[in-house]
Amino acid sequence: MKYRTWTKNKNSAGQEMVAACCRLLTLGLLVAGFAATASAGPREQAKRIHDRLAGVPPSELVLQQMEAEVDQFQAGSAIDAAYRAMDNPNFYNITLKNFAAPWTNRAGDVFVPLNDYVATVVGMIRDDVPFNTLLSADIIYVGANNLGLPAYSNNNNDHYATLEANGLDMMTGLERRVQSNVTGLPQQATAGVVTTRAAAEAFFVAGTNRAMFRFTMVNHLCNDMEQVHDTNLIPDRIRKDVSRSPGGDSRLFLNSCIGCHTGMDPLAGAYAYYNFNETSGNIEYTPGVVQSKYFNNEANFPGGYQTTDDSWINYWREGQNRYLGWDPARPGNGNGARTMGEELGNSDAFAACQVKKVFRAVCLRPPEDATDRGQVNQMIASFTAGGRYSMKQTFAEAAVYCMGQ
Ligand code: HEC
Repeated sequence: MKYRTWTKNKNSAGQEMVAACCRLLTLGLLVAGFAATASAGPREQAKRIHDRLAGVPPSELVLQQMEAEVDQFQAGSAIDAAYRAMDNPNFYNITLKNFAAPWTNRAGDVFVPLNDYVATVVGMIRDDVPFNTLLSADIIYVGANNLGLPAYSNNNNDHYATLEANGLDMMTGLERRVQSNVTGLPQQATAGVVTTRAAAEAFFVAGTNRAMFRFTMVNHLCNDMEQVHDTNLIPDRIRKDVSRSPGGDSRLFLNSCIGCHTGMDPLAGAYAYYNFNETSGNIEYTPGVVQSKYFNNEANFPGGYQTTDDSWINYWREGQNRYLGWDPARPGNGNGARTMGEELGNSDAFAACQVKKVFRAVCLRPPEDATDRGQVNQMIASFTAGGRYSMKQTFAEAAVYCMGQ
């Protein structure tokens, strides 16, 4: 472990050279076939933690501080080192922006302009807002007043696009606001990122509002519709637009269509009062009036379910989708996007999904073997512990797990 002690203390130019020649020596040994495994010392581990979280190398000072925290023979812990790395603005402006951007469009594209959905994710993680409220809270993050940005607008994305174009820092520049105050949506109509302008533009536009549900499942419960397909539940809430004998074949309905629509249609009822108006560019909310998209193609099956309000019911609490781990303290039905967002956000699948996404983002690979899965389970337990739902803690734990040995 001589190599470890040498590199750990190098901080003058001279020692740097010693380290460099030592590296050459190690390389030589490797080539000669002596050392089978090169282990990473605290300095390498600290650097890896910083690179993975902030996407850039640390300053020498920060690296030294992190190295001391990572070193098991000194006070502090590797988790502290990870939190130190997250004090770098790039964690917010690059890592978290890239983490959330794909959730805000149908293509899963990371290269989209900053928007209110992304900024709200970044802000909630920065401020350690319990992340299980992501799909239900009356919350939004905007750029601070003194940044000279155009005001938040319900009709366009200029506020956020300018924030990004001007290279402003989200670590210091984002401010938490009450979403209903900023957008004018009634308080009870807000549902976290689901009712941001960006989400509405991507998922409430045209269609039947099932897209909002599907993409929320994909991005936040890590399950696409094929994975929750269950043909054994009551199909009584399937809307009229779903033909019961597509192509004249009722078996297709019973074996295929029913599998998704039985569960999805009664949940997507929660969005019955929302639409995205492409002409004016803003979200619409019509309390008490079901959007006409819920009555598309009624002739396909006139005996189908007629949406009359924004009630929702979770049939997936029964059958195979019980494994998504619904909160037994909740009734499994309600009205509107907020309570449905709480239903999703408090499921085991939601927590597991956030942890797996973080693991992948930080470790640059999905969890693979039994050891990884054990780690993921520990991280889920720690994420949900005491209702904290701290994403920062999850990022820190992933970075430490993947710092190398
Ligand atoms: C794997 C899950 C799944 C299966 C199986 C499925 N659907 Fe769908 N269906 C969806 C989703 C998700 C949407 C919403 C698509 C969107 O708007 O992005 C949808 C939308 C629809 C719509 C609304 C029109 C539209 O295109 O938005 C109709 C009608 C429909 N499905 C009929 C059917 C019929 C008929 C079958 C069987 C032949 C079927 N679906 C099978 C998931 C499924």
